[in-house]
Amino acid sequence: MLGYIGSPVEFRECPVVVEEEIELNPGAMLITERGYVLRVIGPRYDSPDHDPEILAEKVRMRMRIPRAEPRRTGVRLTWVCEILGRARDGRVELGGAPAPGEEVRWADPADLISGEATYLIGRLWPEGGELRLSGISLSQPSGTFGDPGTGKTYKAQTNAELFLRNRVPVIVLEMSPDEEYSEWARRLRKAEPEIPVHLIEIDRRNPIPIHRLRPEELLEAAGVLTRDQEDLLVAALADLSESPPNSGSNWTREDLYRRITDIAKRQNRETVGANLNAKLRYRMARILTFLGDKGEVFDPSGGGLYVFRLARHPYRELTAAVICTLIEEAALSRRLPGGVVLIDEAHLIVPADRDIPSRHRVRYFVRLARHLGIVPWLISQSPRSIDRQVFDLLRFLYIFALSGENLAAVRDRLSGLHPRLIEQIPLLPTGVCVLVGPRDLVPFPLFFRAEGRRTEHPSPTRDIFRVFEGAKGHGKRS
Ligand SMILES: Nc1ncnc2c1ncn2[C@@H]1O[C@H](COP(=O)(O)OP(=O)(O)OP(=O)(O)O)[C@@H](O)[C@H]1O
Ligand SMILES: [Mg+2]
Repeated sequence: MLGYIGSPVEFRECPVVVEEEIELNPGAMLITERGYVLRVIGPRYDSPDHDPEILAEKVRMRMRIPRAEPRRTGVRLTWVCEILGRARDGRVELGGAPAPGEEVRWADPADLISGEATYLIGRLWPEGGELRLSGISLSQPSGTFGDPGTGKTYKAQTNAELFLRNRVPVIVLEMSPDEEYSEWARRLRKAEPEIPVHLIEIDRRNPIPIHRLRPEELLEAAGVLTRDQEDLLVAALADLSESPPNSGSNWTREDLYRRITDIAKRQNRETVGANLNAKLRYRMARILTFLGDKGEVFDPSGGGLYVFRLARHPYRELTAAVICTLIEEAALSRRLPGGVVLIDEAHLIVPADRDIPSRHRVRYFVRLARHLGIVPWLISQSPRSIDRQVFDLLRFLYIFALSGENLAAVRDRLSGLHPRLIEQIPLLPTGVCVLVGPRDLVPFPLFFRAEGRRTEHPSPTRDIFRVFEGAKGHGKRS
């Protein structure tokens, strides 16, 4: 037993008295003997000396009111809890209330979540049972948001290991230069040798065929062009897609140059054509070295983990978007029966405020994902910088400590949470997040900490003093 209900219920809230050595936190989930599910909102100090009703009565009777002094006697700490409902057979029903004196203990999510909750993703915070979700819940498009260093990547990798152990392919688009997913993949190879791991670079040796780019993407890749050059490039691309040179639409870089020359000749714009081709050849040789004539960047037949190493790629947003299309095609042709696509730093490829070509591809990809059996997992420090259309498609959100406008950006999803608990979100400890999802899958928001990984996290936060420890230097330590 943890404690007991202190006094009768008021406005769907009740006080819980706990043994002194037990720490409670706002957000903790409790359950009573008779199955009432409670969530701690915060502490309350009750003192009979300062009971507002007694005080009002004294004022009415014109009694002398002694000056309030801090008297420890009689002050009692209770934890105000909101009553979320009564758990029965994995469902939570509204109605009824716990009685004074009823015992309470830490809640176990198994009492709250109906259906087959099979997969362990963590443990309730600060304490309580293991949080398991059903396969359906883990197949929803999800977003993970939190301020820097709050535990997003740790959780993403932990959950990805769960998918991989259950033979679900996981495809990671690694956008951030610390390359913590590549490093994790290497560690996973050692920790779980039976999981196939593929680290994929997109470069000269493993290029994206140029015909995979859409006209607006090739225009972006081409760099600064004059108006004439731009027109000519667009005309050549349109011509190539209308009447492809070979059978099929797999035109090459040389095909493009040839079309440009032909069209320029017909329009008496040979100089424009020659300049455009010179420019394109230069860029293809020096900057766009990841574009080729043919190749298969993504072969899903191996299964397991795929990490696309885009962090240092000059056109990482564009490349990420093309990869989404390759995944989509592999799924449509059933070469890829399904999988999780994990995009950390998602605000880079689906930004809210910039109309870049990748935004259109990824919007479409996320919208279609469910029909393809693909599960998009987007991660970002900045939910307000994520395209709203994409954000609205995310059915599960995992929210770590988040503040300011970023908290405001997810606020409408937190309506199931008591306002005083929403205030706690900027203060959540590292590694703790609140899960919100559709009510039929998650009855109410749950605070938990990810658990179950078998690798060590590759990018722990460093202690800056440790870094310089032992270094020869100046000054005294204090
Ligand atoms: N559940 C956890 N248990 C133990 N340590 C954790 C947990 N979650 C995160 N950490 C630690 O917290 C630190 C930050 O975690 P992480 O790298 O996941 O943050 P992040 O939110 O991805 O940060 P960024 O926004 O900078 O990418 C790391 O030192 C990590 O090991
Ligand atoms: Mg991270």
